[in-house]
Amino acid sequence: MIQIRAAANADEGQVDAIQHACLPAAHRYRYSQNIGVPGTANFVATDGAAVVGYISMLHSPPDLAGPYLWQRLKPYMAFVGVLPASRKHGVGARLVRQGVRSVVQEEHQLTWLECEEQVAGFYERLGYRRAAPSEVLAAVGLVPPGLVYSVSLADLR
Ligand SMILES: CC(C)(COP(=O)(O)OP(=O)(O)OC[C@H]1O[C@@H](n2cnc3c(N)ncnc32)[C@H](O)[C@@H]1OP(=O)(O)O)[C@@H](O)C(=O)NCCC(=O)NCCS
Repeated sequence: MIQIRAAANADEGQVDAIQHACLPAAHRYRYSQNIGVPGTANFVATDGAAVVGYISMLHSPPDLAGPYLWQRLKPYMAFVGVLPASRKHGVGARLVRQGVRSVVQEEHQLTWLECEEQVAGFYERLGYRRAAPSEVLAAVGLVPPGLVYSVSLADLR
């Protein structure tokens, strides 16, 4: 049975394996590093002793002088990934719901992410709405390089 729990440092190896299954090896950041870091909220999906999914949320105060959207758009989903063999069974959706609920204080506060077009439908099913580049620019002063999505607790499905 799949369970969701807070990530622990002992999960790092299995979380690295999830990242490697989801992102190119050359990706510039190792998301398992966030586990235990203040201002982040990290959860794993487990199937017995196996870690099959991971989500990392950033919820420290926004840094409006930062050069990247992830520094300015808070709370922000840094990573969500599920091992290929465990996909399409609702694990990703459960991780996103847990991640969003853990960092949002009130019903209408937005939480943000950046994503590729091929995964946009996954977020739209969960109630996320695509932000226009002008909306992001007005909110945090940067033109997004790619797709930006947001959701509030009120809209999360
Ligand atoms: C995206 C990802 C986390 C989804 O995990 P998952 O466990 O397969 O997702 P779920 O089973 O919870 O899917 C929930 C719904 O979204 C749909 N869905 C899943 N992936 C989708 C996609 N890429 N595009 C459109 N819809 C998708 C499912 O069919 C399901 O729909 P339903 O509720 O109508 O049945 C997983 O495919 C993954 O790890 N991908 C690689 C890493 C990645 O792209 N992460 C996002 C970085 S921005």
